[in-house]
Amino acid sequence: MYFCPNCGDPLTIVYDKNELKEVKFTGKGVWRYRDVLPVSSENAVTLNEGGTPLHRSVKLYNEIGVKDLWIKNEGLNPTGSFKDRGMTVGVTRAIELGAHSVICASTGNTAASLSAYAARAGITSFVVVPEGSVALGKLAQARAAGAKIVKVRGNFDYALKIVRSLAAGTTETYLLNSVNPYRIEGQKTIAYEIVEEYGVPDWIFIPVGNAGNITALWKGLKELKSMGFIDRLPKLGGVQAEGASPIYRAFAEGKDEIIPIQNPQTVATAIKIGNPASWRRAMRAVKESGGIMLSVSDEEILEYQKRLASKEGIFVEPASAASIAGLARATALNMVKKDEHVVAVVTGNGLKDPESLMKISAEEITIDAELEALKRVIKG
Ligand SMILES: Cc1ncc(COP(=O)(O)O)c(C=O)c1O
Repeated sequence: MYFCPNCGDPLTIVYDKNELKEVKFTGKGVWRYRDVLPVSSENAVTLNEGGTPLHRSVKLYNEIGVKDLWIKNEGLNPTGSFKDRGMTVGVTRAIELGAHSVICASTGNTAASLSAYAARAGITSFVVVPEGSVALGKLAQARAAGAKIVKVRGNFDYALKIVRSLAAGTTETYLLNSVNPYRIEGQKTIAYEIVEEYGVPDWIFIPVGNAGNITALWKGLKELKSMGFIDRLPKLGGVQAEGASPIYRAFAEGKDEIIPIQNPQTVATAIKIGNPASWRRAMRAVKESGGIMLSVSDEEILEYQKRLASKEGIFVEPASAASIAGLARATALNMVKKDEHVVAVVTGNGLKDPESLMKISAEEITIDAELEALKRVIKG
């Protein structure tokens, strides 16, 4: 059972107050937070996920116009995205339940992550992806790990719909999309890491697709506050791609419900989602935090993908650049003030999806293998 029979939202794991007494953090990465995770760490299926770097921005902060910007680089997780935080907990749970196989619908990164953790656990993984809309690197990762890859004629939303139906009422094939509450538990550890390393910024910016990650981030932050580790919460900046932005649109129009987008379009294939499963939880998180939803164009996404690499040395995939592009938009609109402190989460590694960048980046120069020819190039 993954969904509430009353409201239809994905289930959330809630702890008894006593369970969160005397919480200690020891070790590194996601399992450092084992005391606030709902599975035993003894049999954890792990690839040492989490513990990703938080880089201080050296140039972009100034260009964007904020006093202090830090970039949480989730692309340095074992399979190259934040999904690993959720999968280590989710696949550990699958094994606890005695599942024979695991399944997900995916825009690519979930598939890459699930298949790696399933391989490690020695169980079968099925990944259901929209045909023609998944970056090659991610497909290669799933293939290498031995996943059974199923391509659906239709977009991600259709893929998730059939996978959800298949997994309902059985634990034999365990569903590990972010509608699975154990995924959210693992992913919430990003909040713990940010707080331990930085403290509480004024804002956290994060890309939004199916809206599991922003839900997890907010859950982690609220837990930290309820346990007394922090006494205030940051505002959330959730960023969608313009052609796949149903949550932003509802937020901007002051509506309580999203209108799903039938044919979402964006170069950022990881967040090309028209009917996000966790939209209600995302909307609630953003509103509770006093934050904002934003949308950014493909041009802005690609521009900030390039700038992140050329100004900060951080190569991310297009969906990840949405958080920085969104921050730039928010400062331009004076929604984020110059003197505020910001952490932006970049979610996935650029090596997974280099295609769009290759179309816009600088031309390469070919020379004969001669010193003089090389000298001419260096001299310009
Ligand atoms: C790189 C990347 N960024 C952001 C997201 C969006 O995360 P969520 O679907 O949890 O909102 C995804 C989801 O696939 C992703 O792969």
